[in-house]
Amino acid sequence: MNATPASEFSQLEHIPTRISASADEACTFVADAITALIKERNADAKPTVLGLATGSTPVRLYRELIRRHREEDLSFERVITFNLDEYYGLSGDHPESYRRFMQDQLFDHVDLKPENTHVPDGLTPREEAFASCQAYEELIAASGGIDIQILGIGRTGHIGFNEPGSGPESRTRLVTLDSLTRRDAARDFLGEENVPRHAITMGVGTILDARKVFLLAWGEAKAEVLAATVEGKPTDTIPASFLQQHPDCVFCIDEAAASHLTRQRHPWLVGPVEWTPTMVRKSMVWLAGKTKKPLLKLTGEDYTENGMADLLTEKGSAYDLNIETFNTTQHTITGWPGGKPKADDTNRPERAAPFPKRCLVLSPEPTDDVFCLGGTIHRLANQGHEVTVAYMTSGNLAVPDPDARRSIELIIELGESLRDEAEVTHARKVEQQLNEKGLFGEDTADIRQFKGLIRRGEARSSARLLELTSDRLRFLDLPFYEKGRYRRFKTSQEDVDALAKLLNEVKPHQIFATGQGHDPLSVPALCFETLVAALHACKDAPWLKECWFWLYRGPGAEWETHEIDMAVPLSPDELVFKINGIYQHQTQRSQSPGITRQSENTWVLASQINRATAEVYDALGLAEYEALEGFKRYVPEI
Ligand code: GLP
Repeated sequence: MNATPASEFSQLEHIPTRISASADEACTFVADAITALIKERNADAKPTVLGLATGSTPVRLYRELIRRHREEDLSFERVITFNLDEYYGLSGDHPESYRRFMQDQLFDHVDLKPENTHVPDGLTPREEAFASCQAYEELIAASGGIDIQILGIGRTGHIGFNEPGSGPESRTRLVTLDSLTRRDAARDFLGEENVPRHAITMGVGTILDARKVFLLAWGEAKAEVLAATVEGKPTDTIPASFLQQHPDCVFCIDEAAASHLTRQRHPWLVGPVEWTPTMVRKSMVWLAGKTKKPLLKLTGEDYTENGMADLLTEKGSAYDLNIETFNTTQHTITGWPGGKPKADDTNRPERAAPFPKRCLVLSPEPTDDVFCLGGTIHRLANQGHEVTVAYMTSGNLAVPDPDARRSIELIIELGESLRDEAEVTHARKVEQQLNEKGLFGEDTADIRQFKGLIRRGEARSSARLLELTSDRLRFLDLPFYEKGRYRRFKTSQEDVDALAKLLNEVKPHQIFATGQGHDPLSVPALCFETLVAALHACKDAPWLKECWFWLYRGPGAEWETHEIDMAVPLSPDELVFKINGIYQHQTQRSQSPGITRQSENTWVLASQINRATAEVYDALGLAEYEALEGFKRYVPEI
């Protein structure tokens, strides 16, 4: 276990926080604690009471517990479980109910006695809700109280469904969900309007009564709220912050989720740091932002007044440091993302040769390519490189039903006018399945195939605007996605084989990929995991030795400025091209299907992100561009 130990860097932290290199490593730590307690209690023939959470976060922990049950004889026979919460209005067999989730993710795979598993009942009549919540509390107490409570955290800082406003005295009750929480759940329910408005949740007080608490969190999306929870004052605007009052609570988080903690973000403010080139750049970009000065105007006082005096002592003068970081940042900018042929490439991010290059863009879902690197793809294609875009998953789960219905009606009408019976019969079948499915039903295989085709059409139409013909596009439809649903995906060798086959066929000189640092169960993270495994499978291939990897941050975000190794400028016209490309993905017009707020529209968001990066470069005193797309160089360990 090489989780970062507590040190002077953690002095601002009010909750013990273990930062692990990966979610799996953190899950092993928590699984060890659970296993030790269960074994101890089993030996004394006593029960163990676990408080459990849902969401993507604990899934890997549950998989590890299932593995220990199967392979290491860990018995749950005496374990009693209480889940934190349940959507109000959903029956236990509803595909998105937390009861069903727990059955699928844990209960059905271990020897827990069904009568020992407790999840609040989402169908409790309104008038009985209060009494039923009290009964839940009494049952917990009668079972001896919760020994270990597992928690995730929502982006509003909620634990369970204790939204902002929930105090430390709150108990199990019926609550109204926050709009951000409902937006985060919109994917699961295929549209925010389908997400229940209420839930039953244990209270913050109920959670604080547990003898031991582990809060888990992965991925960058949780970084901001975690920093506020761990370093801020306890406040009911971030209910998780009340965990500061718990005597035995540990946060087990991965590096991406920890990235906003002071010890990660501004370590020079709390203790001595090792001034690696990355740390120098990171601190100087921060210093420039803080003092609102371009890099070349930073003075010795700026350094000393902002906790960076030792950097000056170690590296010499402000003048030298300023020039060095200015040059490094300047050299990240290139209008030639595939390398500039026949040019001196000493100070360019990419090699000049070979030219043209075989460039492979890996896009987890059909929108990610254009959203994140539409401008770069357009340049690569225009500059004569051989660009292949591979859509790793079909993305069919993200097509709202009304969009599918519109297209199917078109096919029926066309088929009828052409008297094409086979087509009409099939289309009618899909239409009927859509009608029967109801609001929350699962998509049948036929519906998923059809929705996948809609996204292919959108991808082709978008790529055309980026000057890519359809023969440059590959649709991998990776099986993990086709067989799964959100928060429950699991990759296998089949996925790795499919990608390795493509890699060996394309033999790329350059690969653009994403997913590093994302929530490990998200589609981009699973695609990245598949890429890493596929690279291992190709480890002896000659092309791999010549291949460079460029990571894009992923939809909805950009690398921090100091992380960018290649910044590709977009002129105003190129940005328009890109936006038009994104616009072709009509079924994805908002970040979460069903949301139509202007700021949530994908094309608005993409241009905001790319413009913001250009603004930071401008503020650092570099050239002023309309927009920039950023990439981080990645060197796989093979
Ligand atoms: C929901 C659950 C919480 C969970 C949160 C985060 O709101 N009620 O218990 O912690 O989602 O979910 P995820 O783990 O999928 O990020």
